[in-house]
Amino acid sequence: MRNKLVAGNWKMHGNLKENAALLEALISNMPKPGNNADYAVCAPFPYLASVQVALQGTCINWGAQNISQYEKGAYTGEVSADMLNDFGCRYVIVGHSERRMLFGETSQIVAEKYAAAQRAGLIPILCVGETLEQRDSDITEQVIDEQLKAVIALTGIESLAKAVIAYEPVWAIGTGKTATPQQAQDIHQFIRKGIASQDKGIAERISILYGGSVKANNAMELFVMPDIDGGLIGGASLVAEDFVAICSAIKS
Ligand code: PGA
Repeated sequence: MRNKLVAGNWKMHGNLKENAALLEALISNMPKPGNNADYAVCAPFPYLASVQVALQGTCINWGAQNISQYEKGAYTGEVSADMLNDFGCRYVIVGHSERRMLFGETSQIVAEKYAAAQRAGLIPILCVGETLEQRDSDITEQVIDEQLKAVIALTGIESLAKAVIAYEPVWAIGTGKTATPQQAQDIHQFIRKGIASQDKGIAERISILYGGSVKANNAMELFVMPDIDGGLIGGASLVAEDFVAICSAIKS
């Protein structure tokens, strides 16, 4: 059975006080994950230390939202994989569309970040997805293929055995417009088939999350689709009640 994951992406939100209240509410209300399910929150760098203290020993894991492709050195402002390990991170998001679009991360850079995460034993959550313009021009599959190929070219298909993919249509992120369950399923299936053409076992086992305006009221209809193995949640992960409800949807 494939592993399921619901990961919260806090983005650049929160502060010490708000985070403490959010985590406390999550810890008290989160349903116990099943054997093959996991929950996580991906926090801004400065809060990883306090997130670690709060979540250690609970059923909730944590991770970061970005990572340097470099191991160490004169890279002002960057955060390395080893640093994330120092704070017990299990996951790191790489290639989020906001990083690709606003911070100029190319598919090559994303692939290098993915490789840096894996070298340090972190699980990369590799984000892929098309813009509205690309969807309207009917090149969604090509775009996703290019994003995945850059990673596979650098790290090999077998690296996907220790990674999670998140399909996040850019037009659905923070817009309140969710892909329909069928639209999402179609792309998840496309991704899985593409991987299967190179390695059937890995394709069968890899978790592919959907992200883009997942809310408490639409999580279930997305998560029941056969190739959707959980979600990457932005806005709704900042509201304890909503995030708990979304996590519960993966369980049932
Ligand atoms: P959203 O963000 O749930 O607020 O649309 C998802 C994401 O960017 O990962």
